[in-house]
Amino acid sequence: MNQLAVVALSVLLAAPLLAQWPAIANYEAMKIPADNAMTKEKVGLGKQLYFDKRLSGDGSRSCYSCHVKEKGLTDGLPTAVGAYEAKLTRSSPTMWNVGYYDKLYWDGRAPSLERQVLGAWSGGNMGATGANGRPSVDDIASKIDKIPGYKSQFEKVFGAGAVTKENAAKAMAAFMRTIVSADANWVKFRNGNEKVFSAAARRGWKIFDEKAKCTGCHDGRLLTDQEFHNVGIGMDAEKPDVGRFTVTKVEKDTGAFKTPSLLDIANSAPYFHNGSVATLEEAVDLILGGGKKNKYLDTTNLKEVKLTPAEKADLLAFLRSLSVPYKITDPKLP
Ligand code: HEC
Ligand code: HEC
Repeated sequence: MNQLAVVALSVLLAAPLLAQWPAIANYEAMKIPADNAMTKEKVGLGKQLYFDKRLSGDGSRSCYSCHVKEKGLTDGLPTAVGAYEAKLTRSSPTMWNVGYYDKLYWDGRAPSLERQVLGAWSGGNMGATGANGRPSVDDIASKIDKIPGYKSQFEKVFGAGAVTKENAAKAMAAFMRTIVSADANWVKFRNGNEKVFSAAARRGWKIFDEKAKCTGCHDGRLLTDQEFHNVGIGMDAEKPDVGRFTVTKVEKDTGAFKTPSLLDIANSAPYFHNGSVATLEEAVDLILGGGKKNKYLDTTNLKEVKLTPAEKADLLAFLRSLSVPYKITDPKLP
């Protein structure tokens, strides 16, 4: 074989491997933890666990229950309602591209998806707290161990005696790393195919980027700088949610929350960390007004911006073009 043929053959062989996981074209590679490599079997197992209501304390909810495709991978509620009908204080965020984040949650308190899963599972969301007669995450893992269809998959992926909460968390984290907005028109647009957007949406992008400087925070392919800013939401409450301050104890982080990605934003109402704003129009108006005044408002990145009604319509057309086609289907559970 000549050299060219060898190169052609190796490209052919490598292509399916490279295409195995959804990825954002022309964007940095997702960091995969060394102790949790991606395999087809692991992702498949994690997907089943993510969709399985038997993981919750009362059998009422799966992870997916609060991150559904019809609602832009959120739940459509102002603030989430967990297992045992527990009223939670924050709104369900979208799952698009969570595998790229190194700080999870509105306040960034979880440093990895593996840790985040254990938090959500043993906390109010899934209710496997182990307190007040409720099952713990270990109790649920023992339950999974008795389901032959799960046990055999865990053993195949992790080895003998493998049904543990840590391995379940690893599998679910691996699955979540495949929830990527690879097919979004936004990705094609940023890679130079401007025709995928309407003329109004293209004008709206310019306003978003230049005149209104939304990219000061909603930056890059993921439309987030992954930083924490106070835009004033909920600061007028009697006991405000102090957000990032809980993690850093730095005063200026009071009321700061992670810049959310705006992918699928038209489907994920209501808006903000406490779900206090019902429509996209109102959410945009609030930001264009420079946020809500309070002591810790990020006035460096957030300024009042005056737009004409036509400019505002274009900006909204851009935001509505950020929807993502969803291809993941419900798995068959053992
Ligand atoms: C009752 C609804 C509910 C259930 C069930 C639920 N979540 Fe969530 N999820 C939320 C809410 C609310 C937040 C934000 C909490 C916060 O920031 O304090 C969140 C945040 C997250 C985040 C962080 C996203 C980001 O941008 O930082 C991930 C990842 C996630 N959930 C995955 C899961 C997984 C995995 C499970 C199952 C083990 C799960 N969720 C179960 C409501 C839910
Ligand atoms: C100072 C940084 C910053 C700038 C500039 C900024 N945002 Fe945001 N944006 C945020 C943060 C932080 C949140 C979440 C705040 C919260 O919930 O407390 C947010 C939330 C949003 C939401 C609600 C998202 C959701 O999932 O609930 C929308 C919509 C939004 N911004 C649009 C815009 C638009 C449009 C612009 C430009 C006019 C803009 N933002 C400028 C930081 C910023």
